[in-house]
Amino acid sequence: MMTKAITLLLALAGFLPLAQAQDAQAGQAKASMCMGCHGIPRYQASFPQVYKVPKISGQGAQYIVAALTEYRKGERHHPTMQAIAGSLSDKDMADLAAYFSTDVPASMRKVVAETPPAAPAEVAALIARGACTSCHGVNFDKPIAPTYPKLAGQHADYLFAALRAYASPDHALFGRNNAIMGAQVKQFKESELKAIATYIGSLPGDIHTVPESRFR
Ligand code: HEC
Ligand code: HEC
Repeated sequence: MMTKAITLLLALAGFLPLAQAQDAQAGQAKASMCMGCHGIPRYQASFPQVYKVPKISGQGAQYIVAALTEYRKGERHHPTMQAIAGSLSDKDMADLAAYFSTDVPASMRKVVAETPPAAPAEVAALIARGACTSCHGVNFDKPIAPTYPKLAGQHADYLFAALRAYASPDHALFGRNNAIMGAQVKQFKESELKAIATYIGSLPGDIHTVPESRFR
């Protein structure tokens, strides 16, 4: 299989530790249950809210594990993702994270500039108020910790839904209980969160939706 050969090549070329390449191979086999949503470009989720399913290919492996663990623990509410994460072992999560963090084909990868296209002045002021770049990186693509998400180029409607979810930590269908982001979003109106999401979603980034190889 194409991707298998690529992960092995990356390992041989020294880009990936061999153990990680092996995990990625195991993850590819498990990823079939994710593809119906995360493998269809711009696929729209309709329950519990309408927005595009997040891009997870090229996302940081440790963040993928952190997010899945939060769904499993119920710190992030979302009926489907909670059911799916609840069925995964720690090893499954590590394998899936190894796969999705490395499955972006070379043809889709671009070098992301350190300095992003400038934000409109009013959005720049909001981002400065939240000091968003101090954690997510100046270009929103290089977070300061591997457990923090890459945001650049994520679907804007998903980013907006995620930001609103941190403001309702206990909502049974979409609440997100996270101390850092919960404190962040409190200082903004919804229209401001939407403006921030629109800008970040427009930026070039590492994250993509990669269709299953047979559709490429
Ligand atoms: C039925 C559709 C569906 C399936 C199948 C599915 N997901 Fe998801 N996934 C979603 C949606 C919708 C979200 C956004 C949930 C939210 O708002 O928190 C999501 C969120 C995520 C996130 C968090 C992304 C972020 O940026 O925080 C990760 C990681 C993830 N899914 C991984 C997986 C993996 C791995 C599988 C397969 C084992 C999988 N998903 C299967 C629909 C799906
Ligand atoms: C102190 C560090 C820090 C700051 C400052 C910060 N974030 Fe975050 N952000 C995080 C962490 C950590 C997470 C992951 C939380 C989780 O696990 O749900 C996160 C998650 C997010 C998510 C969800 C991404 C996804 O894929 O689901 C969005 C959107 C986001 N941040 C946007 C922002 C914006 C916009 C600002 C500024 C207003 C900001 N962040 C400021 C640390 C930070």
